[in-house]
Amino acid sequence: MEVIIRPSAEQAAELVAWLIAARLRSKPDLVLGLATGRTMESVYDYLISIQRSEGLDFSHCRTFNLDEYIGVPAEDEHSYRYYMNHHLFRRINIDLANTYVPDGVAADLRAEAANYEHLIREAGGIDLQLLGIGEAGHIGFNEPLSALMSRTREKALTPVTRERNAAMFGGDPDKVPKRALTMGVGTILDSHELLLLATGGAKASILAKAVEGPITAMISASAMQLHANCKVIVDEEAARELKGRDYYDWIFHNEPEWREFRDLASASPSP
Ligand code: GLP
Repeated sequence: MEVIIRPSAEQAAELVAWLIAARLRSKPDLVLGLATGRTMESVYDYLISIQRSEGLDFSHCRTFNLDEYIGVPAEDEHSYRYYMNHHLFRRINIDLANTYVPDGVAADLRAEAANYEHLIREAGGIDLQLLGIGEAGHIGFNEPLSALMSRTREKALTPVTRERNAAMFGGDPDKVPKRALTMGVGTILDSHELLLLATGGAKASILAKAVEGPITAMISASAMQLHANCKVIVDEEAARELKGRDYYDWIFHNEPEWREFRDLASASPSP
């Protein structure tokens, strides 16, 4: 795992966008795993601006989202399908038929979950999976005690998650669906590369536990420690409780793989 600390949330999101752009340039038919949440909105804004300034081409790219609320149809503005169409897909040159989000209103959710796994396998697996982290320590909607080998399935949401996501439902946690369909921790770990973005002080404590604490099903994000190609990008506030930051900073400033990403702020247009 590598942890990269950027001075601001914007610079952290920008770095994530440029990493995605670099992978897409070297593999135009990239299979990209996507995430939702407030943190990702600036990543998508940067991707759109990079597409405009650099002519980034998404026409051969396929995407798989991590999760979807159960019982919320695609056209509902609270669905993650709606979020993705609104924040990214309709603003880039991707074919909507190549974008996959689990169907939260499928008549048979178990069959939908199995089919989602099948579609990912058929696409050749996910090349790069973008991740956020919930304050309950989840990746996707893999709430505490999610098996580290779990696959796409239904999951009940914790009160913490429903509380944190209430802002998108008019501030009322009771309006947040109780269940979601989510890729499993095992599904996520099968991706060739993981890229997690966490910003803001509210994530500092859980981020430190996920990155530097023991691997535990109580914090599904800690399973990232098992992955051989995993990058965690954070801003100063989210990095606050990390103990190993001097080493992480040294890596970013000295390792050749990071050279082209060190001076982004001056190099790219803001969205
Ligand atoms: C939801 C999503 C997660 C996301 C998390 C963090 O729970 N299922 O994939 O990482 O929110 O969201 P935010 O970026 O809004 O803090």
